[in-house]
Amino acid sequence: MAYIVVKESKPLRGTVRISGSKNAVLPIIAATLLVDGVSVIKSVPDLRDVSVMSDLLRYLGAKVEYDGETLIVDAREIKDTEAPYNLVNKMRASFLVMGSLLSRFNTAKISMPGGCAIGTRPIDLHLKGFRAMGAEIVSDHGYVEAHAEKLSGSKIYLDFPSVGATENIMMAAVRAEGITTIENAAEEPEIVDLANFLNKMGAKVRGAGTNTIKITGVEKLEAVEHTVIPDRIEAGTYMVAAAMTKGDVFVDNVIIDHIKPVVAKLIEVGCTVEEHENGVRVIGTDKIMPTNIKTLPHPGFPTDMQSQFMAMLCMAEGKSTITETVFENRFMNVPELIRMGANIEINGKSAIVEGRDKLTGSEVMATDLRAGAALVISGLVAEGETIVKNIYHIERGYVDLVGKLSRLGAEICKVEESV
Ligand code: EPZ
Repeated sequence: MAYIVVKESKPLRGTVRISGSKNAVLPIIAATLLVDGVSVIKSVPDLRDVSVMSDLLRYLGAKVEYDGETLIVDAREIKDTEAPYNLVNKMRASFLVMGSLLSRFNTAKISMPGGCAIGTRPIDLHLKGFRAMGAEIVSDHGYVEAHAEKLSGSKIYLDFPSVGATENIMMAAVRAEGITTIENAAEEPEIVDLANFLNKMGAKVRGAGTNTIKITGVEKLEAVEHTVIPDRIEAGTYMVAAAMTKGDVFVDNVIIDHIKPVVAKLIEVGCTVEEHENGVRVIGTDKIMPTNIKTLPHPGFPTDMQSQFMAMLCMAEGKSTITETVFENRFMNVPELIRMGANIEINGKSAIVEGRDKLTGSEVMATDLRAGAALVISGLVAEGETIVKNIYHIERGYVDLVGKLSRLGAEICKVEESV
């Protein structure tokens, strides 16, 4: 198994270019199944999750080509509407094909996505939406089967503004008879990007980015071309890396509006953040001030940035409190950071971080992609050498993390362990 070796490095300097958004492109790839045509998706990040989703579409009968930037999906000959366990269990976002298959073929059978380290990750809200639109749902033998003569518009209240449920219901609703209203919908930028893609295809989706989304069913959809938004979480990760190392980094290809909570919190801890046309410049500070973080659905502070901020606050001049309200188990990085000398105490949904002036390099393990990235950037400021294992988590969601960091001056490399 490969691992990453990162040494205490000089302050990061230079420019890093952000790739397309993993969490925008995955539902958009699922949405290409809606049409019997050839969709062209640009600015597609070269990630493990993208190849898993592409393999799933190939299994269903689509032809998928990818050149590292542009993904072409020919969904004219879908021969199957069943997504098997061996593919879905690699990535829970595979479940996002359910809405498209149900919309186009009135039937779908998808293996139930497993939970993962950060939580049980249920799908009850996805199914609540499909049922409300008239689908019959049967869950047994580890699969969820949905059938509907014809989906009809309905009013659906999401008990939690689930990103995936909002996306799946949107895709199922684009051809349903009448109007579907999603109340307490997720407002993330990735929802807006999906809605823009669907509307380009001829769908009628209104209100994406607010907590109420109305989808008016249409007869015809056409395959189109779309460029995916930049990855706001990748951008935030490099912004924190610049802050932690007291560096000066221009993070290029960023939509400022998507990273407001991250900018606000970096300024609170004492960094300088300059907003430019197409990116942000982050200048670190000698003294990182403590702050309090509470993760919330967008536009609140993103849960996907919690681990990175926890790593940075381990070096703050005082006590910070981090409260995780989105997932039930997203503090797995704590024991790893404690191995590096951090002083953190978990108290229910909160972690109390007592800043130290130094972390020490250690052998640590990634438990999810954001926790893994946080350990790598911790290694940049820890005394000595840090070895990060289980980096397959990281490679699911970060394009060339090692290359991008080393071009900013990090002393970092990936080691392929001989078996
Ligand atoms: C998306 O996951 C992202 N993944 C996650 O990013 C992100 O952390 C999450 O949204 C929250 O922003 C992708 O977009 C591929 P949710 P998703 O449904 O859709 C509960 C990363 O690091 N819930 O909004 O699975 C659930 O248990 C990943 O890139 C239900 O109760 O997230 C959780 O507590 C990690 N019932 C909360 O909602 C449901 O039917 C948020 O989940 C669905 C969800």
